[in-house]
Amino acid sequence: MNVLAEQEFAKRWGEKPEVIAFAPGRVNLIGEHTDYNGGFVLPVAVNRYVWVAASRNPMPEATFYAVNFQDEASFPLDGIAFNPFKPWSNYVQGVAWVLREEGFKLPGIKAVIGGDVPIGAGMSSSAAVEVAIALAFLALAGVEPDREKLALLCQRAENEFVGMRCGIMDQWTSLLAREGHAIFLDCLTLEYHYVPLPAGISIVVADTRVRRELARSEYNLRRKQCEEAVAILRTRWPQVRFLRDVKPEEMPGWEELLPEPIKSRAKHVVEENARVLEAKEALEKGNLRNFGRLMVLSHKSLRELYEVSSPELDFLVETAMSCEGVYGSRLTGAGFGGCTVTLVEESAVPALREKLREAYLNRFGFAPEIHDLSPVGGAFTLIGDQTLAFTGA
Ligand code: GLA
Repeated sequence: MNVLAEQEFAKRWGEKPEVIAFAPGRVNLIGEHTDYNGGFVLPVAVNRYVWVAASRNPMPEATFYAVNFQDEASFPLDGIAFNPFKPWSNYVQGVAWVLREEGFKLPGIKAVIGGDVPIGAGMSSSAAVEVAIALAFLALAGVEPDREKLALLCQRAENEFVGMRCGIMDQWTSLLAREGHAIFLDCLTLEYHYVPLPAGISIVVADTRVRRELARSEYNLRRKQCEEAVAILRTRWPQVRFLRDVKPEEMPGWEELLPEPIKSRAKHVVEENARVLEAKEALEKGNLRNFGRLMVLSHKSLRELYEVSSPELDFLVETAMSCEGVYGSRLTGAGFGGCTVTLVEESAVPALREKLREAYLNRFGFAPEIHDLSPVGGAFTLIGDQTLAFTGA
C-alpha cells in the first residue's frame, strides 16, 4: 500500500512524500455502545488502512487531496474553521485544530489521503483518518507522540470539531492494537490488556452496503438517553457516574425508575458490559462456543433494546448463524446499517462467504461486500527508510 500512497502523492505533487502514516480500521468483537458509558470493549484492529502521504509545505497552510472523494481541501493553519461544504475535510481540520490547541507547532503540510477502510461502514474509518492525519502532522513536526494521549486528542477532535460524540474505542484501537490480539479496554480507567485470538478462527465482516443518513444524530441521541438515565439513577444512588457504575445486585428496582425508551437503552448497556467481561474470559479460556453465544445475545440486545440494527444486519446475522462452523455473529460498530462481524472456523469461511452473498442478493437484490480480515498491530509511520511502529505496551 505504501507504493500506492507514493504514486498517488507523486501524481498530485510531482515528488516523493517525506512521510507516510498508516492507521488501521477496527472490528469490535463485543461491547457495543459501552465506551461512552465508561464501560468495556473488546475490539481488534484489522488489515484495512487509511494512509496519509505528506511533505512539509513552506506556507503555513494545509492542503489535502482525498483520493476516495477525488476532492481537495486547503486551509490556513492559524484560521481553522468548520467546513459545511466538505464534510470529509472536517476530520482533517479537527485534528489540526486539536493538535494546535494542545500546543504542538505544526508545519505547513501538503498531503494525499487514501485507503481501504470502508467509509461509514462501522469499521472506524473516521478514527483511522484522524489517527493517520495526526501521525503525519507529528512526523513532519519531528514529534513522536504518546499514543494514549493522541487517542484522546483524536477523540476530542471528533467530539468537539466534527460534532460526533463518539467514545474512545476506535482511536484507542487504531493506535494501540497488537497483532493477533484483541484489546480489552476499560473505557473509564483506560486500563487495557491484550487477549490472544486462537489459531484456526477467522473474522469475517459482511458489509450490508447500506448507510443511514441519520446515523450521527441517532448516535448522539442514544448517548443523551444514557446520560439521562444516569441523571435519574443518581437521585437514588449518587455513586452512579456512568451506566458502568450500575450494579444490579446492589441496586434493586433500578430499572423501574426509568421511563422508556431510556430504560431499554440503559438495560442494554448494563447487560452488554457484563457480556464483555464474560466474553473476555471465554476467549482467554478458548471457549469460543460461549463467546459466540454472547455475540448473538449482544446483537439481540442492540436490535431490541438499543434499536440500532436494521433488517439487512439482522438478515446477515441470521444467515451466518445457520452456517456450519460459525460461533457467533453480530452487528459491529455503531449500527444503523454498516457491517456484521462473524467468528468462524477458518475452514468454513468459503462456504460462509458464498451463503451470505447468495442469500443476501436473493433477499435485497444487491450483494453484500465480504471481508476476510486479520488482526493487526496499531498505526505506524514511514519516514524515509525508517518505520515508527507501535512496539506494544
Ligand atoms: C462508533 C463510535 C465508538 C462506539 C461505537 C459503538 O464506532 O465511534 O466510540 O461508541 O460506535 O460501540
